[in-house]
Amino acid sequence: MIKPDLKVKIGNIHLKNPVMPASGTFGYGLEYEDETDLAKIGAIIVKGLSLQPSKGNPSPRIAETPAGLLNAVGLENIGIDNFIDLKLPKLKKYKTPIITNIYGKTEDEYINLTKKIDKTEGIEGIEVNISCPNVKKGGLAFGTSPETCLELVKKIRQETDKTLIVKLSPNVTDIRPIALAAQKGGADAVSLINTITGMVIDIKKRKPVLANITGGLSGPAIRPVALRMVYEACSVIDIPAIGIGGIVSYEDALSFIIAGASAVQVGTGNFINPKICEKIIKGILSYMKKYKIKSINNLRGSLVA
Ligand SMILES: Cc1cc2nc3c(=O)[nH]c(=O)nc-3n(C[C@H](O)[C@H](O)[C@H](O)COP(=O)(O)O)c2cc1C
Repeated sequence: MIKPDLKVKIGNIHLKNPVMPASGTFGYGLEYEDETDLAKIGAIIVKGLSLQPSKGNPSPRIAETPAGLLNAVGLENIGIDNFIDLKLPKLKKYKTPIITNIYGKTEDEYINLTKKIDKTEGIEGIEVNISCPNVKKGGLAFGTSPETCLELVKKIRQETDKTLIVKLSPNVTDIRPIALAAQKGGADAVSLINTITGMVIDIKKRKPVLANITGGLSGPAIRPVALRMVYEACSVIDIPAIGIGGIVSYEDALSFIIAGASAVQVGTGNFINPKICEKIIKGILSYMKKYKIKSINNLRGSLVA
């Protein structure tokens, strides 16, 4: 059998395979260059960037939970200008598509970030985070109602022809109208899910473990919820979905693709094994060889109900 074809297309981006790291768990990519081959992964998605550098939330910001991680990092980042000047030039040599994840406290901040990225050669796509549970302003406020999602996505769409991915929040009653609103606003794809709001208490101190009180739960603990939401979103939208949530093996990644996702992102898994994306890509290839599947696109949405 010839080598199975792993190529997928998200908006205008041609990915050599459907596996990429999730924003915030892979730094700016460069932190991982000695650990894994950045030329082999589908895309590089960097930490959420804001217009100005941000220190994020006070510590403690991370708590371990059964099969998961609770974080309230609060979008600490170096700011868009520093990313473009200091990190992007070094990332370009891998010839792997670079997607910047952005976060704004206001509509204007999202728009100004988009304008800057639109002018920047070497960034192929924008992932708009409207789903962070750990910041007081912006973010989640846009991602929990179809109306605010639609308005914001429409305005961002007017500013760029680059591939636009809208990252959705699981902290909603029904993901479908919000996925549809992102599509209607002109998104090329949606990615889901971001973390699920949670809490851990230290009973000796009777205090929350995180300084922020609540945080976002990620890792294998959230996988069934994420899979269900990807399945639901894919049942109503026509644009590609990128599945995220607790993926730590090729079997997990394939479940999302069978449920309808065109590609996947691996988050917390990078903290367990920095080579995890490469490992998952290899696993998908052997599965496709074993079951004689020519193209990964033939598996997408192939769930037998
Ligand atoms: C420490 C940490 C930081 C994160 N930072 C971001 C971020 O900057 N922007 C974003 O859209 N998502 C962020 N996320 C969410 C992940 O990209 C992903 O959606 C989530 O962790 C679920 O995937 P996982 O279970 O594979 O980790 C972060 C997650 C973690 C654990």
